[in-house]
Amino acid sequence: MCGINGYVGKGRDAALRALDGILKLKYRGYDSAGIVFQNGGEPVILKVVGDPVNLEQRLSSFNLESSIAIAHNRWATHGVPSEENAHPHSDCTGTIFLVHNGIIENYRELRDELIAKGHVFRSQTDTEVAVHLVEEWYVKGKTSLEFAVKNAIARLRGKWAFLIYTSDDPETLIATRFGSPLLLGIGEDGYYAASSAAPFVGRAENFILLEDGDTALLNGQVTIFDQEGRQITREAKKLDWELETAQRGGFPHFMLKEIFDQPDAISNSMAGRINPSGEIKFEELDGVDFGEVGRILIIGCGTSYFAGRQVENLFEEIAEIPAKTELASEFRYRSPVLCKNDLAIFISQSGETTDTYEALQVVKNHGVATVGIVNVMNSSIARELDRVIYQRVGLEIGVASTKAFSSQVVILMLLAFHIARSRGKKNAGEKAVDELLKIPVKIGEVLRCSEQLQKLAEKYYKHKNFFFIGRKNGFAIANEGALKLKEVSYVHAEGYGAGEMKHGPIALIDPSFVTLAIAPEDSVYRNMISNINEVRARKGRVISLATEGDGDIGKISDDVVYLPETIEELYPFLEIVALQLFAYYFAVALQYNPDQPRNLAKSVTVE
Ligand code: G6P
Repeated sequence: MCGINGYVGKGRDAALRALDGILKLKYRGYDSAGIVFQNGGEPVILKVVGDPVNLEQRLSSFNLESSIAIAHNRWATHGVPSEENAHPHSDCTGTIFLVHNGIIENYRELRDELIAKGHVFRSQTDTEVAVHLVEEWYVKGKTSLEFAVKNAIARLRGKWAFLIYTSDDPETLIATRFGSPLLLGIGEDGYYAASSAAPFVGRAENFILLEDGDTALLNGQVTIFDQEGRQITREAKKLDWELETAQRGGFPHFMLKEIFDQPDAISNSMAGRINPSGEIKFEELDGVDFGEVGRILIIGCGTSYFAGRQVENLFEEIAEIPAKTELASEFRYRSPVLCKNDLAIFISQSGETTDTYEALQVVKNHGVATVGIVNVMNSSIARELDRVIYQRVGLEIGVASTKAFSSQVVILMLLAFHIARSRGKKNAGEKAVDELLKIPVKIGEVLRCSEQLQKLAEKYYKHKNFFFIGRKNGFAIANEGALKLKEVSYVHAEGYGAGEMKHGPIALIDPSFVTLAIAPEDSVYRNMISNINEVRARKGRVISLATEGDGDIGKISDDVVYLPETIEELYPFLEIVALQLFAYYFAVALQYNPDQPRNLAKSVTVE
């Protein structure tokens, strides 16, 4: 977790550039933030608890004439969110500054050792040992900062991306990584170094991905050394994120913008993968033979896990391959029985989730073939997979995933059809593919009901307990809908298989409990109606999601949201949009900021 961003170059507004970058990295954490820059030749460190935007005002009282600055957003792991624990950390002399994303595992022993040598620690973080270790090796005028950094990191165990500079040489920024992502942005008038490419949007046209063990010196030029200290060249790539995807485009929050992005997001994910004759083609999978696949494992966390749950049945129904979705955080600690003809599909929007990354290592160690559905290009997970299918939905900034989910589901569906067809079921998913092409327009119709969903949220926002129930294609959506509400509104929301209610949960139902029932006209509609009646019989309140034209469901529901008609497998695309809007407006009614839910971060790079 945590986001780091630094700038060094000809621009004199380095502090503003570094700050702007961490504001774009707020999805990595926002419980505290800090920055260091030079002011009249002297270093200034500013730290705030809470939103990094609070640094803006603190900066306004300075003459911003620095050509170097490093900044940090924190998501606390060691030590509470406080100014002392916020980065940057500095050494005892107050001349070396460091920001960190990652975890130093052996920090306790190093801290004891450094304290015994006379170092004074000011925070409870694991990070602070790193800057004192650099201090151990750095002697002004005698050893270089680069030499000191190299020796310091040789003592560390864990993961890190560090940005480091000394006020003795404010023209040089050092960026080094091991296990945590770090990218260099190459701008016209200077260099950036950040945890992801988001801060480079609109500022740097090209970027370089540092590899594990790399150390880069940025001082009017870029010099990169690998883990063995050999000077190397890393290829610069063109940044293809457009500025507008990183901006709110007139919406009050990124979450709402990204919900509304979904027709385009889904179209982009399908583009080029379905040709006019309905043929499915994944260039990324050219040459892969699915004929021998005996089992499919789908692995992810959070919303990405639910995307897997949404589609796993289709692999069984259409491709007739046993399929199971696993939580990466559980899978990595089990001793799974894996076979050579398994296929593991990893799902990760960010491509950085630690549990998913580690689960991927487990699978790779068993020699199992891996395919991934990832949004962020060149991310850590993307780089470790045998084959990657990119989602192409642009930046997703809202912490609660929305458009990435719909895109993951559509890609998984196409993959299920593709695999089925490549195993001889020539027309697998033919009807669904036809109907999928109409789904962006139908999502547009649901988006037009946003006012109704806002009114519903405003009607129910004082309630504290919610069930989201569904069956078959509505089961994973019920769970994902509940997750959305929990994430942004902090109310108790539980997703449940509607048929399971009578095995326990129904005991909770009373007039204050609200149940969102996912009940489109599909093959389990009648069963859902029975389950809704059971809730009503206990005086529970019911909001139903139903198919347009359903004249009956209104009689047994307090409220109904009508969705356009589609085929059974595709209702989830419409249902989830309604549930996302409900969660969004619920949070707004409670006056919470849905883009920055408390205690959460978008990219979870800790266990
Ligand atoms: C965090 C985010 C979720 C996301 C999950 C998995 O919990 O807040 O929105 O679904 O991580 O992230 P990934 O990037 O691997 O899809």
